[in-house]
Amino acid sequence: MTPVLSAHDLGYSYEGSAPVFRDLTLEIRPGRALAVLGPNGVGKTTLLRLLCGGLRPSHGEIRLRGVPVSYHRAGLTELRTNVQLVLQDPDDQLFAADVRQDVSFGPVNLGLAAAEVHGRVADALSAMEITVLADRPTHLLSFGQRKRVAIAGALALRPAVLVLDEPTAGLDPAGVEALLMTLARLQAEGTTIVASTHDVDLAHRWAQDAAVLAGGVLHTGPAAELLTDESLLAAARLRPAWGPVVGRVLRAHGVLAADAPDPRTPADLLVANGSSPGALS
Ligand SMILES: Nc1ncnc2c1ncn2[C@@H]1O[C@H](COP(=O)(O)OP(=O)(O)OP(=O)(O)O)[C@@H](O)[C@H]1O
Ligand SMILES: [Mg+2]
Repeated sequence: MTPVLSAHDLGYSYEGSAPVFRDLTLEIRPGRALAVLGPNGVGKTTLLRLLCGGLRPSHGEIRLRGVPVSYHRAGLTELRTNVQLVLQDPDDQLFAADVRQDVSFGPVNLGLAAAEVHGRVADALSAMEITVLADRPTHLLSFGQRKRVAIAGALALRPAVLVLDEPTAGLDPAGVEALLMTLARLQAEGTTIVASTHDVDLAHRWAQDAAVLAGGVLHTGPAAELLTDESLLAAARLRPAWGPVVGRVLRAHGVLAADAPDPRTPADLLVANGSSPGALS
């Protein structure tokens, strides 16, 4: 199957600086969730900006559904209507006076009819559970609320690929859970999700695929494999996910069946052990 988005021999150097990385190859399969991990300063944000057309590769190319991106206006518009980046800091993204205006900006800019804009904005606000904030001035919102508005702004464009730079950083635990549920729903509806994170447990829980950037090399594969590779994770200054570690111990003690999948949540442990997940509440 043709990847929805891919990078080929990708290299990038900021002006006057040594290359952040060279010759990276990454294939993002449609409908999947991909977690991008790696230590501070390794180039995760740079890679996400390249994937969305916010930066132009110094070397190599980005392809949208197999077609190399052209960096003229039409090519960039095509890329950006398909691939939406949500920046780590919402203050780099929000600029309109109130929430509704901010979330409307993308659809209005696409030239959509007023009724379509209205429907998309209502859906995006509802998906991020911020309908009640629609008329609030953006500068009076909390950090977590601003982050939700930034994500809603991307959702209103109905991208094929939603790219999020550290989306859970700064969210409270309930906010993280709500975001994971929203991402799972978007994925079920067909959106491809790419997100960078330093949280291996979170990545193991929601992503099927992983890309670990360490020392200028991008390692890619199934999340369940990469996120249990202790030497790779140590090179990326990360800890292994708890689920596979706990799963290994419980299998060794016969508590989990030999072929049971690794737990991703406490509820999974109960289910694997024949109990109802309701026992947690
Ligand atoms: N605008 C810029 N100009 C010059 N160098 C930059 C610029 N932005 C980032 N860099 C450098 O590029 C490298 C990669 O930065 P990047 O922000 O992509 O890392 P990251 O993996 O996202 O890190 P973090 O986990 O801290 O967010 C770093 O060495 C950084 O200092
Ligand atoms: Mg970053």
